[in-house]
Amino acid sequence: MWAQLSRGLTVLQESPKGFPKDESGESDEAMVVEADLRNMSVLVREEARKGRAVGFVPTMGALHEGHLSLVRRCRAENDLTVVSIFVNPTQFGPNEDLDTYPRTFEADCAALEALGCDVVFAPRAQDMYAADHSTWVIVEGLTEPLCGRYRPGHFRGVTTVVAKLFNIVRPDRAYFGQKDYQQLKVIERMVRDLNFGIEIVPCPTVREPDGLAMSSRNAYLSAEERAVAPALYAALVKAAEAVRAGASGDEVEEMVRRELSAVPAFEVQYVEAVHPETLEPARWAGPPMVIAAAAFLGRTRLIDNVIVES
Ligand code: PAF
Repeated sequence: MWAQLSRGLTVLQESPKGFPKDESGESDEAMVVEADLRNMSVLVREEARKGRAVGFVPTMGALHEGHLSLVRRCRAENDLTVVSIFVNPTQFGPNEDLDTYPRTFEADCAALEALGCDVVFAPRAQDMYAADHSTWVIVEGLTEPLCGRYRPGHFRGVTTVVAKLFNIVRPDRAYFGQKDYQQLKVIERMVRDLNFGIEIVPCPTVREPDGLAMSSRNAYLSAEERAVAPALYAALVKAAEAVRAGASGDEVEEMVRRELSAVPAFEVQYVEAVHPETLEPARWAGPPMVIAAAAFLGRTRLIDNVIVES
């Protein structure tokens, strides 16, 4: 059923998952899987017209507990939960992992249905991007430091696809994980600057028991790499403690680099202490500060951060 995409408009109008939900919030209707952009828009507009709040969780699939926590929260706060699964080609650089990015569509749909997700939107790349697509959404400034420095064009791809998804789904609320902290801030800025009128809900990073931040890319790690991977978060936690004790941005950047240099498998790309809102370098001591890092373990690029609030 889940692979049966692009269901007709008539079917969707008749049976979008037994809305409204009963008091328990449960529904035994099948989850709708939609690939068609117009059908998707019609479905959500119909629900919104009935006064139902639409919550949206955009994903690239390969779902893990981090994504599922967003879906749970979305369900708790909205009448209709829409999850998109779209591996967005425009946010991958030429030497990045677009072709090998994990694709687990059937398992993703099973997990979403078990959680009570109402609609999975899984558009095709050729429908999202016309051959002569030439319009981009660019957030200046916030996209320059951190990952932006090392992944040219990445955030342009993210903001463009998220803007397109927002225009199709028109949610009331959209849920983003703090693991991709810069992405979260960039999306918040885009929504504010372009008056999308959507509430962006930041959600805490979900971690493995040993502290490793959950990520679809963790699937690439060898057993040896997986064993040392938690050192990234451990170094960031130490740095956060130091900031709370009054350390400066420069000091904690140096501290994280030193900690990671003790694990030869890590190749550090950046460690930056920044202001939580402006993402400007933290040239002060103590909170507020976000300490963010990206490091390779073999060919796998891990990112993580800690937020130290004042
Ligand atoms: O965080 C992600 O999975 C992606 O960047 C997003 C927001 C779904 C856009 O493709």
